[in-house]
Amino acid sequence: MQIICLSRKPDGYACLRMRKAAESRGYSFQDLNPADVDICIGDGIFLKTEGKSERFKIPNVHKCALLPRLGALPVDHALAVVREFEAGHIRSFNLADAIQRTRNKIHAYQVLGNRSVPIPKTFVLANQRELDTVTDALPGGKYIVKLPVGVQGIGVMLAESRSSLASILDTFWGLNELVLVQEYIEGAAKDKRAFVVGDQVVASMHRSARVGDFRSNVHQDGQCTAVELSEEEARLAVRASRALDLDISGVDIAETGEGPVVLEVNQSPGFEALESVTKVDCAGAIIEYVAGF
Ligand SMILES: Nc1ncnc2c1ncn2[C@@H]1O[C@H](COP(=O)(O)OP(=O)(O)O)[C@@H](O)[C@H]1O
Ligand SMILES: [Mg+2]
Repeated sequence: MQIICLSRKPDGYACLRMRKAAESRGYSFQDLNPADVDICIGDGIFLKTEGKSERFKIPNVHKCALLPRLGALPVDHALAVVREFEAGHIRSFNLADAIQRTRNKIHAYQVLGNRSVPIPKTFVLANQRELDTVTDALPGGKYIVKLPVGVQGIGVMLAESRSSLASILDTFWGLNELVLVQEYIEGAAKDKRAFVVGDQVVASMHRSARVGDFRSNVHQDGQCTAVELSEEEARLAVRASRALDLDISGVDIAETGEGPVVLEVNQSPGFEALESVTKVDCAGAIIEYVAGF
């Protein structure tokens, strides 16, 4: 079996761990930087090496899979490369469509909400006109504002009053930026991250925001500890991942008075902190899933 890992960071933790996991199982593992790839639509993929452009030969092996590790903000070019592999009958884990729908939070919440996956109450407003409707529907006086595309807690804002909310929204609308307004969930400062591969939660951890922040992201110095999910949480994580048609995902879950909700689904989840606190071999789980497909 041959695995092609599409990533700008072949020396990053995830790619190195997946290479080791693949090679230790006797599979070949090839890095491909999307920045070196050109596409001639209908004619294939071309690779720039040492100044020359050469046709990339799709490996003629019984089984070949693509593993895109494009980060949380995959650029359109990289997604086009994934689609070109799919057109060449190479299965991508995750699929380009699933990556695209997940990277946009508004799109992802629409898919989840319309499939009855519990999410925080979320609004996308055209202008200030309906602001009272939103603030009436979200009691508590605190609101979350999110940019549709963001990572590592950047692009997630807390408004601690109606007037802060109104001024934040005015700012973004004035810049012609679309944002979503969301119910503030107290328990989200201490959420759970589930690493989902196929229909399994492979590993999970608790993440606690550092003092003075409401965001639990590892990149915002959130503290991680291993945790077992309840059966309900594990089922919810898999349901959210499947609703977005993802093979590999990181699902963030927060507890509310009415049960767990899905805060976010990540299509290129890092697993360095997770492997470190849980000692679970997440890279091995990915490779075994891909090989068994
Ligand atoms: N509705 C919410 N209420 C309270 N805190 C939230 C809410 N949504 C997100 N957060 C906090 O902000 C962090 C980042 O939000 P998230 O939507 O996951 O964006 P990112 O893609 O940047 O990780 C979450 O891990 C959580 O701690
Ligand atoms: Mg997140």
